[in-house]
Amino acid sequence: MTTPDADREPVIRDPVIVGQFRCPRGMLGTLAGWVMASRASNVGRNRWSVELLGLAPGANVLEIGCGPGIGLGAVLENIPESHVTGLDHSAVMINQAAGRHRAALKADRLELWQGTLESLPAGPRFDAAFSCNVLQFVTDRDGLLTEVKARLKPGGVFATTYQPRGRCATSEEGRAWIGGFAEDLCAAGFKDVDVREKLFGEMPAFCALAVAPDAH
Ligand SMILES: C[S@@+](CC[C@H](N)C(=O)[O-])C[C@H]1O[C@@H](n2cnc3c(N)ncnc32)[C@H](O)[C@@H]1O
Repeated sequence: MTTPDADREPVIRDPVIVGQFRCPRGMLGTLAGWVMASRASNVGRNRWSVELLGLAPGANVLEIGCGPGIGLGAVLENIPESHVTGLDHSAVMINQAAGRHRAALKADRLELWQGTLESLPAGPRFDAAFSCNVLQFVTDRDGLLTEVKARLKPGGVFATTYQPRGRCATSEEGRAWIGGFAEDLCAAGFKDVDVREKLFGEMPAFCALAVAPDAH
């Protein structure tokens, strides 16, 4: 459900509220999940990120920080015979994603994994991986990119989307963040690194696309 109010920015200067988007817990976490699932800009940037992956039918896809499952739905609904793994360290988010995609779970098209990327068994099994407004929370970026490479097939696509949030957010901040991320992708050996930008609401979202190297 999308309402005009649902697309307004929450006041996220309060660290308690920021914490609920970093790792939703309890009643406030449930509410944060509802906001993520109902805000038009959030739904739009998830769909856009999945479109940018250019997935083929039957693709095996990983979403890092799947939250309430909007990105998972974009893959399941648009890519025939795809299989998706949704990873999130929040039990509240894993439960919301499960509730949203019961049929896909039953049909074995969806796997939900509660934990961080390191806890997901390594092995090059994914054709693509993506995340939306998650990786700004990860402090060890070199470690993160090593873990992503260990799970992507050679030539697998990786999309990282970031849209600045909050009343003080600026597009310059988003552009700077994604530019730094793109540089780190290159340094980590990813190929064909490219940055895209699209307006959702009043704030652009930025997506860094990259291809996993042949041998990693
Ligand atoms: C701002 S929410 C975005 C959720 C979803 N991607 C969306 O766009 O609707 C960030 C999500 O990433 C998850 N998250 C943050 N850091 C994580 C980490 N290191 N490992 C797994 N999940 C993480 C949080 O629990 C939360 O569900």
